[in-house]
Amino acid sequence: MGVANSSFIKACYGRNSGKIPIWIMRQAGRYLPEYLKVREEVSFQQLCRSPKIIAEVVDQPIRRFDLDAAILFSDILTMLEPMGLDVSFPDGGPKISNPISTIDDVRRMRPINPVKDLSFALDGIREIKKILPDVPLIGFAGSPFTLACYLIEGQGSKTFNSAKKFLHQSPDVAEELFDFLADALAAYLRTQIEAGAETVQLFESWGGILSHDDFARWVIKPVNKIFGKLSDLKIPRILFVNNVAPYLDLLKDLDSEVIGVDYRTKLNQAMTALPNKAVQGNLDPTVLFGTPEHVKEKTLQILDSLENYDRLIFNLGHGILPETPLESVKILVDTVHNYRN
Ligand code: CP3
Repeated sequence: MGVANSSFIKACYGRNSGKIPIWIMRQAGRYLPEYLKVREEVSFQQLCRSPKIIAEVVDQPIRRFDLDAAILFSDILTMLEPMGLDVSFPDGGPKISNPISTIDDVRRMRPINPVKDLSFALDGIREIKKILPDVPLIGFAGSPFTLACYLIEGQGSKTFNSAKKFLHQSPDVAEELFDFLADALAAYLRTQIEAGAETVQLFESWGGILSHDDFARWVIKPVNKIFGKLSDLKIPRILFVNNVAPYLDLLKDLDSEVIGVDYRTKLNQAMTALPNKAVQGNLDPTVLFGTPEHVKEKTLQILDSLENYDRLIFNLGHGILPETPLESVKILVDTVHNYRN
């Protein structure tokens, strides 16, 4: 069949006339018993540095479910380590022991050479393509703003107020930081494609906390810069925004093929507001904790609300949660695949 003719890649370009494709954010991970088994032997960070085990855990959800795309196993914070940041996951959540706050901190960050500094992830991609040559592979990274949130806060947060304040207290330092990150991200995503990934997704997990103006300046502008630098590669570029609804007018003209939509936003509203893009989403991950009938009903509710299925990639509206019942995932995938054949 070939990856170029897969339902996933065709849907990215708005010309899928067959079965609706589905993949699941965080599809390789802690809800899978076989992933937990691997994690008994290796830490999360060791795993991210082991190309063969990366390929194994990427393959796990594909073997179990009839998913239409695979995603590299890594983390958005991994690329910060060769820049000189001390990243760890002490209690599961991320921690940066040397967060940044001044222009000197920004200037101390080392420019990365992804081929040398992130070779384990690129080798992971090559190992994945050996096992899954015909499954579209998604490379990924975090958006500049989402990375800045962790860089400045040093850990997770509900509001990331210190990162938001930073943009207003030190806009010039922030500009320099975002330029630095945008260059590194464009270089890293390019090497992921060169290693064998067929598409890339940027995770804007925290941009949804910004004012409309700030979203234009700190999300749209740098993401356009990154995606613009990849335009010669002729691959679909996906931006996932958690809490996308307030910014649909700005995203309409983003230099990207696909917008990932969170579960708060009405998918039909996003599709109407983004007429020239594919959309990806957006079942609430907690729906999967309901009965099988409930999972089916809620999935059909989204599907029935839409008018165009040629530019739809089904997904959850955020990452799948630990302890999600595996039967629910199967029902979700079957419901999407049987909707239009
Ligand atoms: O299957 C996949 O989607 C690929 C793997 C992947 C991971 N992290 C592995 C991971 C991806 C795409 C990410 C992206 C990521 N990482 C995001 C953006 C997506 C989102 O959820 O909005 C963010 C914000 C991070 C930062 C991060 N990494 C957090 C907040 C945490 C701890 C909480 C959590 O969600 O697990 C991590 C750790 C992490 N990244 C784990 C995994 C599988 C858990 C590690 C483990 O215990 O095995």
